[in-house]
Amino acid sequence: MGLSKRFGGVQALRDVSFAMDRGQVVGLIGPNGSGKSTCVNLLSGTLPVSAGEVWLDDELLTGKPIDAAVVKGLSRTFQSTQIFPEDTALENVMLGCHTLFKQGPAKSVLRTASAKRENLELVTHAERSLALVGLAERRDQIASTLSAAEQRLLMIAVALASKPKVILLDEPAAGMVASERRALAGIIRSLPSHGISVLVIEHHMGLIMEVCDRIVVLNFGQKIAEGTPAEIRNNQAVIDAYLGHRDHA
Ligand SMILES: Nc1ncnc2c1ncn2[C@@H]1O[C@H](COP(=O)(O)OP(=O)(O)OP(=O)(O)O)[C@@H](O)[C@H]1O
Ligand SMILES: [Mg+2]
Repeated sequence: MGLSKRFGGVQALRDVSFAMDRGQVVGLIGPNGSGKSTCVNLLSGTLPVSAGEVWLDDELLTGKPIDAAVVKGLSRTFQSTQIFPEDTALENVMLGCHTLFKQGPAKSVLRTASAKRENLELVTHAERSLALVGLAERRDQIASTLSAAEQRLLMIAVALASKPKVILLDEPAAGMVASERRALAGIIRSLPSHGISVLVIEHHMGLIMEVCDRIVVLNFGQKIAEGTPAEIRNNQAVIDAYLGHRDHA
């Protein structure tokens, strides 16, 4: 049985199932309200499922505590930018590292030898996450002073900080101009070489067609197609439901 989610009278997702192979970039597309964010919310455990199961390798994630998915290797970004605006880029990412280190940033003020060592590891790891999204130079900048596009990238760096096997990106290009989208495409394409599989929601078809190995299409909460970018572009049901109805920059 696939994933289903009901909000009161609204069936937001109905029996949707798909698999992701290791090292793949998979696109999740569909009209507004078709259930894309709901799908990510269920996969990441942000919302409980109404029915269905989420598996990561041979581990069942469904029904586990809210941070279980992150601990097991699945992390996500949000459709709206969610960062700590008053903290630096590095501090934002360090806060995202907490699952990796036994003693979090709070405990490290104890300044024990092991905490100091761990703090150093934390900084190095956070710097690496920033570098993966091209924000190495911005490490000490207060997050609210970053450009909107850089804030979107920072959210990806935070998600990368937990060393995920799979990362779920909900409209990462929101608010980006063409040159920023091109840079984002390069970043997304680079993630599989670091052992990270990607599920990406986007309305920009140029970006989706460029970065994805496979694409899953939702309409009214149901999966209507799945295939390679070429197959999806030429799929009549997808054209009728989505591609034919809007200006996909
Ligand atoms: N927390 C919620 N409570 C009630 N209804 C919800 C909730 N979240 C989503 N919905 C409804 O579920 C349906 C799917 O919404 P969802 O946000 O998953 O769509 P989407 O494909 O991500 O759309 P968009 O492209 O606009 O982001 C919509 O009808 C939406 O109104
Ligand atoms: Mg959405």
